[in-house]
Amino acid sequence: IGILDITAELLDRNPNKDSGSVDMDDGQGDKAELAEQSLLNKLIHRSLVINQNQVEVMQADPSSPLFSVKTFEELRLKPELLEGVYSMGFNRPSRIQESALPLMLAQPLQNLIAQSQSGTGKTAAFCLAMLSHVNPANQWTQCLCVAPTYELALQTGQVIEQMGKFCPDVKLAYAVRGTKAVRGSRLQEHIVVGTPGTVLDWCTKYKMIDPKKISIFVLDEADVMINMQGHRDQSIRIHRQLSEDCQMLLFSATFEDSVLQFAKRVVPDPNIIKLKREEETLDTIKQFYVVCSGKEDKFNSLCNLYGCLTIAQTVIFCHTRKMASWLAASLTTEGHQVALLSGEMMVDQRAAVIERFRNGKEKVLVSTNVCSRGIDVAQVTLVVNFDLPVNMKGDADNETYLHRIGRSGRFGKRGFAVNMVDSEEDMVVLKQIEEHFGRKITKLDTSELEQMEMLLK
Ligand SMILES: *[C@@H]1O[C@H](CO)[C@@H](O)[C@H](O)[C@H]1NC(C)=O
Repeated sequence: IGILDITAELLDRNPNKDSGSVDMDDGQGDKAELAEQSLLNKLIHRSLVINQNQVEVMQADPSSPLFSVKTFEELRLKPELLEGVYSMGFNRPSRIQESALPLMLAQPLQNLIAQSQSGTGKTAAFCLAMLSHVNPANQWTQCLCVAPTYELALQTGQVIEQMGKFCPDVKLAYAVRGTKAVRGSRLQEHIVVGTPGTVLDWCTKYKMIDPKKISIFVLDEADVMINMQGHRDQSIRIHRQLSEDCQMLLFSATFEDSVLQFAKRVVPDPNIIKLKREEETLDTIKQFYVVCSGKEDKFNSLCNLYGCLTIAQTVIFCHTRKMASWLAASLTTEGHQVALLSGEMMVDQRAAVIERFRNGKEKVLVSTNVCSRGIDVAQVTLVVNFDLPVNMKGDADNETYLHRIGRSGRFGKRGFAVNMVDSEEDMVVLKQIEEHFGRKITKLDTSELEQMEMLLK
């Protein structure tokens, strides 16, 4: 018996970090950060993101007919599985599922590489494929799914449990750290979800799974996976033991060259499905800046702004945790209902805060940089950069700026962005942002109420 201890990345957060430390992602792909981001996205994208973008399908065999479905009925699922799908609130296949599901369920089995951002229905699609494929009468593991972290594996497992809740004969096991492994005793669970290290151990060291009997292998979050060196190698080692006719399904939110190369190595003869990402733009956003003299002055300007704008919801970004806490406390004192989001919070806490804010429980959300990517709230009217986004060198972080302020072109509502500037350096950064996006950022004097009201109309 061995207690396996793998992928502790998410537990590795250092709670003793100075609370004044800069809470930013250095863009160099802090590995744990990537996995966390994925998890956060999964937690907050329980319902599907609307995406009308074109799906691009490249078939392994271009001469075979290309099916796509508009309803789940067309897939001829087992009735109890169909019931599970509907019970989760999925009424129609998502954009990517329309093409992916017929491919994944086709006989003979076909391989698939699919790329789309989170919230587009990938997880539900491969969970459905595994559940549909299992033959409960065969008491061995038939489907194997690997994810980069413990939390992500649990998340996927929960989808399988929910979707399969009317299929009581189908059993699921988690191959994650802390699960007891018994050498030589074959698992009877039909589906195993886990992290690469534990799954590999269960296949090789403990022989609890016979890899030759696996008929579907799912590799989820490939882009996160290949950035974790150990995981990448372990995935390849698991893959090597599978039989040749095992169906390989690989999913990724992004599709850089490195991901595609890895994918093609693991997935022979693939069908490839890509869903274009919604582009963010500044088209519908009016941008302003306010010249201030320190944080108290910034705070007063913020309160003035509130005085003359009818604001549904606001997100305010700060550079450090300390500043964010101070600001949240000051706003609370002024009588605002404020939520605070910062990097030392666990991912599920962050997801809970975002969820509450989305549901309108708070009108103001104060956040540090690391959290900006999780926030995607259509009803936000005002985004305030209490501190401008800069990189380590102090240059304008244009990408983060767009991410904080921008909206997806088609569905985005109109909004305002206000940048607080309190030094020469800030002015330089502001000019860089103007230059980068080729858009003027208008000066706003928050003590001139009439002028403000005109500009903010
Ligand atoms: C952002 O854009 C400006 C203007 O193009 C540029 O000077 C600056 O270096 C960019 N920032 C980064 C981090 O690349």
